[in-house]
Amino acid sequence: MKCSNFLTFTFFFLSFSLLISLATPTLLFQGFNWDSWNKPGGLYNFLKGSVNDLARAGVTHVWLPPPTHSVSPQGYLPGRLYDLNASKYGNQMELKTLIASLHQKGIKSVADIVINHRTAEYKDGRGIYCIFEGGTPDNRLDWGPWAICRDDTQYSDGSGNPDTGDGYAAAPDIDHLNPRVQKELIDWMNWLKTSIGFDGWRLDFVKGYSPSITKLYMDQTKPDFAVGELWDSITYLNGAPDYNQDGHRNELARWVQASGGGVVTAFDFTTKGILQYAVQGQWWRMKDPNGRPSGLIGILPKNAVTFLDNHDTGSSQKLWPFPPDKVMQGYAYILTHPGIPSIFYDHFFDWGLKEEIIRLTSVRTRNGISETSRVNIMACDPDLYMAMIDEKIIVKIGSKYDTGNLIPPNYKVVTYGSCYCVWEKQS
Ligand SMILES: *[C@@H]1O[C@H](CO)[C@@H](O)[C@H](O)[C@H]1NC(C)=O
Repeated sequence: MKCSNFLTFTFFFLSFSLLISLATPTLLFQGFNWDSWNKPGGLYNFLKGSVNDLARAGVTHVWLPPPTHSVSPQGYLPGRLYDLNASKYGNQMELKTLIASLHQKGIKSVADIVINHRTAEYKDGRGIYCIFEGGTPDNRLDWGPWAICRDDTQYSDGSGNPDTGDGYAAAPDIDHLNPRVQKELIDWMNWLKTSIGFDGWRLDFVKGYSPSITKLYMDQTKPDFAVGELWDSITYLNGAPDYNQDGHRNELARWVQASGGGVVTAFDFTTKGILQYAVQGQWWRMKDPNGRPSGLIGILPKNAVTFLDNHDTGSSQKLWPFPPDKVMQGYAYILTHPGIPSIFYDHFFDWGLKEEIIRLTSVRTRNGISETSRVNIMACDPDLYMAMIDEKIIVKIGSKYDTGNLIPPNYKVVTYGSCYCVWEKQS
């Protein structure tokens, strides 16, 4: 290779590496709660009016609720998958307009994909609801009992394959090993991309089908980002969470890998489970025996989506809520740490925390904190957690005020709130 060629090569190689390293780290926003179907004026229209706030917060992806016709108003019992006009969140036009407004600000949109189960439109000769309607004039997604898993005995006629995952009681479990089911669901997801404008997927109840199915759907739909909901209880010992949650986080990591990895991520239920005890004076939980964060972000940060609450765990369902008075300590943790943080609708829009959250996301963005940023845990006592991230920022969380002499003199306070403080290195 001639020297000039070598220099040109080096130049392009370096520019390319620079481009990759400058790719904006993902910051997710869950754009709805359990009651958003009831939002006066419609959720889609409300979010369209909030696009500037989301851009100001540095949000890169907004997770929208299941967009299709559904038997339940929240969308998690979907039926006519091509019918986006029967949604309580707004009609197809309003959804497309919202997605276009987000795109104008460089924000991507993530569709909630509920495909483990599906509700049927009509009964068959047995009087069982198992005749599915796609919502188009042709026969796309018009299925019969052959599309239901054999072991879902409430609906099955025995002709489908056995379920590859857990069963779901409230609706027929779909046979994802059937080639027509696979093809028509892939076509439908690609329609959501090309005709509606969605960029990525949030996969509902992935325990319901094999990760090899997820891998197939990801390979065939090529999302920009995907996150799976694999929700299992953390490990308890004598009524309190076990310090060691390796089994729990390893299961998430195994699912990510079996789903193909890459853009596929999992909600970090491990971090959520531990963090909501840590904020109650148990910060020793946040450091594993190897000195890493104890959740999925400690072993697979690139594929971990951290969050405090969602439409199930918090909101009006409160199935596993984060202590409400400690939510900002939770955000001080996830918004300064590696992984892909997710901000919940309620905290941002309904709890009056918008500006306080934006002060933290600004620090994250300004310092280029990313999925894979390095964490050095400096203190991990019951009432004091301190960590330096990328040798750029330091976060302190917990009720202990005195940080001793742990803060180097070239670090200055940039934001703080009740029981937390963030320092930034001065250049
Ligand atoms: C929904 O409404 C749009 C017009 O806004 C129309 O193009 C589309 O075909 C409708 N979909 C269904 C399933 O009726």
